[in-house]
Amino acid sequence: MALSPIDPNSYARGDLVKTTHIHMDWDVDFQAKVLSGTCTYSMTKVDPSATSVLMDVRDVDISSVKLESSGEELKFTIDGETPFGSRLEIQLPTECADEFKMLITYKTTAKCEALLWMSPEQTSGGVHPFVFSQCQAILARAMLPCQDTPSIKVTYSASVTAPVGVTVLMSAVRKEENQPTGDNKMKFSFEQKIPIVSYLIAIAAGDLKSRKIGPRSHVWAEEKYLETAAFDFSDTEKMLATAEELCGPYVWGIYDILVLPPSFPFGGMENPCLTFVTPTLLSGDKSNATVVAHEIAHSWTGNLVTNVNFEHFWLNEGFTKFTEYKIAGRLKGEAARHLQAIRDWPSLVECVNKDFGADHPLTKLVPCLEGVDPEDAFSQVPYLKGQAFLWFLETKVGGPTKMEPFLRSYYEKFKFQSISTAVFHKYFWEYFADYFEELKDIDWNTWYYAPGMPPVKPDFDQTLVIPVYDLADRWRKWSDDTSAVCPFHQDDLKSFMSEQVTEFLNNLMVGDPLSLKAVEKLTEVYKFNESPNKEILFRWIRLGLGVHYEASVQPAVDLVTEVGRGKYVIPIYRDLWKWEEKKQLALDTFEATRAKLMSMAREGVAKELGLKPKV
Ligand code: BES
Ligand code: ZN
Repeated sequence: MALSPIDPNSYARGDLVKTTHIHMDWDVDFQAKVLSGTCTYSMTKVDPSATSVLMDVRDVDISSVKLESSGEELKFTIDGETPFGSRLEIQLPTECADEFKMLITYKTTAKCEALLWMSPEQTSGGVHPFVFSQCQAILARAMLPCQDTPSIKVTYSASVTAPVGVTVLMSAVRKEENQPTGDNKMKFSFEQKIPIVSYLIAIAAGDLKSRKIGPRSHVWAEEKYLETAAFDFSDTEKMLATAEELCGPYVWGIYDILVLPPSFPFGGMENPCLTFVTPTLLSGDKSNATVVAHEIAHSWTGNLVTNVNFEHFWLNEGFTKFTEYKIAGRLKGEAARHLQAIRDWPSLVECVNKDFGADHPLTKLVPCLEGVDPEDAFSQVPYLKGQAFLWFLETKVGGPTKMEPFLRSYYEKFKFQSISTAVFHKYFWEYFADYFEELKDIDWNTWYYAPGMPPVKPDFDQTLVIPVYDLADRWRKWSDDTSAVCPFHQDDLKSFMSEQVTEFLNNLMVGDPLSLKAVEKLTEVYKFNESPNKEILFRWIRLGLGVHYEASVQPAVDLVTEVGRGKYVIPIYRDLWKWEEKKQLALDTFEATRAKLMSMAREGVAKELGLKPKV
């Protein structure tokens, strides 16, 4: 079955007939746990000889396809089933205009992996149900039939009904006041006037309240999280203004943040106009707001200039990491930018050398994804190898004063487009045509296509980690001989930023492990087990599980029961699984909680527990 010639993960053929606008007329049915209704697609024939429309679907139940102008029913077939979707082919009438609209009436099914439905009891308020979507990478096709490839951009509008008491939000600008529809439902309307890719279509509905946190920003959440969220994200406008300085004007109008229930599988998701975040970012001291900086950066890198398919995902995530660090540098100082990069680096090393292995093809900056689900390819590589590459290029061209104007010009030139690495490469050379001497020795092919760690490691400034590593070394030394008087005190951490504390814990996890006694003492002195910051709690748990510290087991189970964020649950299950006596506990906990997880986290955990073959 022929796939798209430009996207190995899609059946869509935008080169024949492509979508330009979608209007969704949806009803959110919490009882049946389905999203149902009619989508109207504005289509353009790109190839005049095309006789059918090709789209992607996955577990959706289509009842009819009609041509809008005549009401004529169009024949359709669904075939070519793969683990990540099927091909929807819609036959066009012989006399079909070059521009036409078609209506698909359908509903989602119980198998839908894009939506997570929660009963009122599963929410913090306990009164109303909740649903949210996560479409990246290729799950938009499970929410609506669509040309689910990032090579195609569409505008959208939507009109959504939901039971009274529930607020509906989408990745778009909210239109007009909400209307009661008479049947104990409310109607919400939205408009996204900027062309976006399918994976950015997003919806959430629940008992949501909002607070204004800036001139163009509200934070949305269940009541329980609202106040902390408003505080933790109060630097949003500063971050937006900084990102605009770096990247150019913010074109999306509003920038809101939606705090989801704990089952949200990611830290953040850059849905346009409405970033989705996990409540695990909330710490009461703003220390995890860097995730918001990251999602803000996507407003240019990913949402304006987009990878043409997921083989070029580094154009999204590598650029975004690079920009995220720069925002930190502008707001907290250059040393903080380096600290953030230093802190992330070990996760690239772990991913490349341990998880995949240094010659695994998925450790290439630009991998081949034929026959590979992007979900299985997802890793730190596009993020951190990508950012390292840009960091390297910046030093080659003479620093930020040269690189930043280039980036602005790149966003301006390729905004609203979907591009490949080759397009970036060509434009880079065009822009820096006078830099032949500086650039001639760059080994581009190794950077792009060689597996393993990046060929050059950035030269990170160690200022903020010297005291951190020093303290960690002292702990290691004491750990070797715990009969000596314990020289540590709570105040050891007093002058540290929270990023330094997490780096301290990172450092203790690499190299020679601390003794069990030392981990016990460390817990007693610093009380990491009581930290409201999940980044700290998570690392403390892992440190404990690594040395079979019984007191870390219950907190581990509690965290993976409460939270569905893959970044936390996958490594914790991995650690429990490595500990022979806890294997059964890991299996039982997963069995009890798997229904609350979204597929990306659930499948990740299943692999760790040997329930599914590894990639
Ligand atoms: N776009 C990603 C999340 C994503 C990637 C979802 C691929 C599905 C498929 C988002 O911008 C992201 O990178 N989130 C990170 C946070 C960040 C600070 C690195 C996360 O969730 O951990
Ligand atoms: Zn990202």
